[in-house]
This record gives sequence, C-alpha cells and structure tokens, in this order.
Amino acid sequence: MERTTLWDITGVDPDKARAVAAMRRQVATDPDRFWLDQAKRIAWDTFPTVACNTSFDGDVSIRWYEDGTLNASVSCLDRHLATRGDQTALIWQGDDAAISRKLTFRELHSEVCRFANVLCGLGVRRGDRVAIHLPMVTEGFVAMLACARIGAVHVVLFGGFSPEGIGERLIDSGAVAVVTCDTARRGAKRVPHKETIDAALSHAGTIGAVRNVIVVRVTGDDVPMKEGRDHDYTALVAQASPECVPEIMRAEDPLFLLYTSGSTGKPKAIVHTTGGYMVWATYTVDVTFPSEPDTTHWCTADVAWITGHTFVVYGPLSNGTTTLIYEGLPGWPQAGRWWDIIDRYNVSSFFTAPTAIRSLMRDGDDLPRRYSLASLRRLASAGEPISADAWLWFYEEIGQKRCPVIDMWWQTETAGPMLSAIAGAQPLKPGWATTPIPGLFASITNEKGEVVTPEGEAEGCLCFDSSWPGQARTIWGDHKRFRETYFTFSPGRYFSGDGARRDEYGNLMITGRMDDVINVSGHRIGTAEIEDAVATDHSIAEAAAVGISHDLKGQGIVVFVVARSEKVAPPVGDLARIISERVGRYAAPERVYLVNELPKTRSGKIVRRLLRKIASGETDSLGDLSSLADSSVVPALIAQVTAQS
Ligand code: WT7
Repeated sequence: MERTTLWDITGVDPDKARAVAAMRRQVATDPDRFWLDQAKRIAWDTFPTVACNTSFDGDVSIRWYEDGTLNASVSCLDRHLATRGDQTALIWQGDDAAISRKLTFRELHSEVCRFANVLCGLGVRRGDRVAIHLPMVTEGFVAMLACARIGAVHVVLFGGFSPEGIGERLIDSGAVAVVTCDTARRGAKRVPHKETIDAALSHAGTIGAVRNVIVVRVTGDDVPMKEGRDHDYTALVAQASPECVPEIMRAEDPLFLLYTSGSTGKPKAIVHTTGGYMVWATYTVDVTFPSEPDTTHWCTADVAWITGHTFVVYGPLSNGTTTLIYEGLPGWPQAGRWWDIIDRYNVSSFFTAPTAIRSLMRDGDDLPRRYSLASLRRLASAGEPISADAWLWFYEEIGQKRCPVIDMWWQTETAGPMLSAIAGAQPLKPGWATTPIPGLFASITNEKGEVVTPEGEAEGCLCFDSSWPGQARTIWGDHKRFRETYFTFSPGRYFSGDGARRDEYGNLMITGRMDDVINVSGHRIGTAEIEDAVATDHSIAEAAAVGISHDLKGQGIVVFVVARSEKVAPPVGDLARIISERVGRYAAPERVYLVNELPKTRSGKIVRRLLRKIASGETDSLGDLSSLADSSVVPALIAQVTAQS
C-alpha cells in the first residue's frame, strides 16, 4: 500500500489545471453555454439552439440539442476530407503478423459510401435496425458508419453470444438485416459466425424481421449460403457507387442500440441518439486522450462493446485521429504481440482493460522490456476496478514512468467516461478513477438514495446529479424498466448501480456493482441470465449465481443449484455446458455446486451475500444469520460445497 504514495508522480501543469478548473466553473454557472460550445466540436447540418432538455422526474425524458440536425458519418469522414483526406484513418492489423491494411479518411469514406449504397439497395431504410456480428475487421467498422450514413440504427452483437442469445436480440431489436462473416480467427480456433447466425435465425422457428444476411469473407472457410437471403459482401460492394449522400437526421434520432445486462434475465438494448452521442464521444475522447497531429490511438476493446463504439470508432474518427484495430489475441501465436504492434505502428495512446493487464503481467517483466514502447504517451484502463498493483505495473513497465495511466469509469449507459483524471491537470491515484470529467456532478448516497455527506470522505452508491449529452435515452421497447432501474433509487439523480468511495480531496474509487451483475473479464453478466439458462434444465428446481473474486478475470461465476429430486440431478458438467450454450462461452462458470437447499430470508429471497462467502471459502465471517428463514441450511451447505470442491 505504501507504493500508492506515488500518486502525483506524473506531475501537474498549472496552466492545464487552471484551464480545467475554468471548464468546471463554466458548467456550474452556465451549463447551456458550455454544452453548446462542446457541440461545435462536430459537424451539424443545422446547429442546435438549445443544449439540454431533460427531466429525471416523472416519466424521465432526456433530450439534447433537439432542434439540431446532422449525420454522424459526416463528422467522422466528410469533414476531414479537405484537411486530412490522405491521412490514415484506420489501421487494421491481422492475426497473421504479415497481413495488415491501412485506410485513409478518403478511402474509408468511399468504403462507407459503397456499403451504405449496398444497404439501401437491399431495402434498408432510415430508422431500420441492422445487426452487425463480426470480429475485429475493417468491414465491421465500415458497416457501423454505413448504417449511420443512411440513418439506419446499428446493433453490434458480440461474437461470443450463443445462437439463442443472438436470436433473442434479433427479435427484440427487430433487425431487418445482419452483417456477419464466414468464420473468425481466435488463436488456433475458428469461431463459426455464419453458422451461429443460421442457427439464430432458425431458432424458435422464426427469423423475426431479418430479410438479408451479408457475409464478409474473413477466413475463406466454406459456409452454406441461402439463396435470396445471404449475400457476399465483396460482390455487393464491388458494384456499388463510392458516393452516397448522407441522410440528415434529427439530433434525437437513434444512432445505435447496444445490448447489456442488468438485474433481470432479459438483456436490455440501451438506446443512444445521434447529436448528443456524437458530441459526447468527440468531447470525452479529446478531453481524456488529447490528440496531437501524429497520434495513433489504440483502444483494444471489441467494437461490440460501448468502449469500442466510442473509443475505437466514433470518438477518434470524429477528432480526426488515426485509430487501430487488431484482429487477434494478445498472446497469439506468441506472447508480446501487443507490444510488437505498439512499436510497429508507433502507437501513442493505448487503452485497455484491467483483465488484459493482469494477464500480461503474468508473462513477466522481461517481455515488454524487449520492445521499445517509446512511442507511447498516454495509457488508460477501464471496464473494471484496476488494483494499485496492476496500475503501477502498467505505469512502470509499459509506460516506462513517462506516461500517465488514466483509470476511466463508464458504462454502456453513459456512452463515454464519466470519472477520469485529466492528465496534467490533477494528480493520479493508482486504483482510483478520481473525479467526474468537466461537465458532470457526482454524488455518493446511502442505501436509501439520500446524500448524507455532500463533500469529503464518504462511501455508498454512485449517482450523477444532472444529465450529459451521451446519456442513454431509454431501453428499447421498455421505458418503464429504464425509469425504474436508473431513476427511482435516488429521485432526481441517475443511479449507476455501482458503489464508490470518496477521499478527502474528492477522488472517487469504485467498489463494485451493488446489483446482481457480475463483471467477468470486463463482460457484464446478470446473475439472472445464468439462473434462467440453468432453469431450462427441467431437473433443476432453483439456481443462484454469484460472483467471486478471480485473479485473472476480476470476477468468476459460481452457481449453486438445487435439483428437483436427487435421482434426476444432472451432472454439473452438463449445467456448465448449458450456460455456455445459452448465454455464451464468456459466461462459463468456474464451479457449479449441487446443493439441497439455498439460504433464504423469511420472505423467500435468496441470500447471495452468504453464497458469495461460502463460495469464496470465507466461512468464518458469515455474519448475522438471524434474517434467514432456516439457519440450519448454512452448515449443510458448507458441508456440501466442501465435499464438492
Ligand atoms: C460496469 C459497466 C469502460 C466501460 C465499458 C464497460 C464497471 C467500468 C470501471 C472502472 C471500476 C468499472 C462498473 C460499471 N466498470 N469501468 N474504471 N473501475 N469499475 O461497460 O459493460 O456497461 O459495464 O463496468 O461496474 O457499472 P459495461
């Protein structure tokens, strides 16, 4: 712990600190002026006259820049053509080190227009949803911007979702088309993308609204193509024009839906709209990762996550920054691939997740020392809490004590970083996400949602007091769930679902989720999703999933199941397989325990706190058991878990 006294090591520049303080003052006194100024960062067809029109009360209505009109792809592409048309916009590094591709802003513009024309030709219209289910290849990037170009709403689906998971999301979003690929490379393995989509579309005997499937040839593996429905990406694009007039959208028209997990088993599609999101993406990337003319920005997030949307695609491009994507795994075919890529392309801004940092630390310090890494100027981490140890390793071994490490806290719902140090303007503190970025006001409340300690040291629930342009507008098709999840806990505030601690200087540290959400390697999974999957096995009476601490993944999943009758209890291996199949392989549990009974309160609620303790082996600190309906369940449970461990 003593090492955390290093926390102001990267220094503070008084001019920068003054500039940031001035921004904070402006938002406090004239928020409309501040946010209309930020709106100038992007290209509009009609510049808005109002900034925010939001109410967190009543039915909850969030609107930004509502009389503005624009097309998101113009900010990312067209407006750069005159000044930096020949600058590289996108670098793609293939899994094979010998294969890579660079696209200038001009080339990317043409590719986006071609594919936008392809989508139009297939009958995709403004407001239609288009699912994108691809690995890290340029076509995924192009497809997102092509949707934006024609006003279609993209729904990027993670490659790790099961066919069922994808089918459910295709139906929920009402997607009319899917962009996928033959197969994807994952180390020595192949991920069957097309097969997964075929299975999803035949799932439950319905294809929902999907009329067209466009297949990118990533590996060249042979896949069946369905006449009339499936199309070859390259063949379509080859015939399409490289010019496409952008569709002019209203600021509050949806730009994309993105699925995430919450406290119920049903995944929710978070809705982000065009004007506010684009301003927010452009602002947050620039304020946290300021771009110099030769910046090459590499955020290792998959584009299927919000981090990918904002910090790989929209934010860097809108700022005119070169952005890099890598098809492969960090340690394939040998450790050090990431460091090689940093040297090869002179990456200056590097942004990754704590789970990756923890696994890279295991390769030892010698490995990164074999690379120069001299191009790096800024580092960032987000997605889960980063320990002070991992922070220091990243700072010392990768940043070579030259580069600030920014711990950013954000969510699918926030679309961009909410808590983040502004390097140079304030001290950094390992393990702490520090302060709200200029424009935001955070509160720590007690468990009833009340602010008891407005300033100084406090611990409780993390809320935000006012809206921001990139705030989620609703949950697709379920505004009631949106209101209830985020706005009823502390009336007048946005409740994040996370716990946080504040130090005497106002720095914030995230203590973890307060709801039934588990964060496995940065993947957010609702315990109910796992329990619902297990419940599809009819021999199971009930199940409870909990998250326990895991060295590499941050959290791992442990599932407790009660069989309907001892005679028909399924092997635990089958249950683990069901979870991987139904939810996705990223949700595979560490352990499944078959037990006779679960600990419950008198009102019948499962006491997960106890299960977590038992699963972590902390049986000597179980705490007060008096709220249990039957406390004799506990010793029996411990005995069964011990016998199965
Ligand atoms: C949840 C949101 C970078 C956003 C991508 C994840 C956890 C996120 C941090 C951080 C501690 C963090 C929170 C949050 N989280 N960043 N820097 N420190 N925890 O978006 O999948 O919607 O997950 O990730 O628990 O609520 P997401």
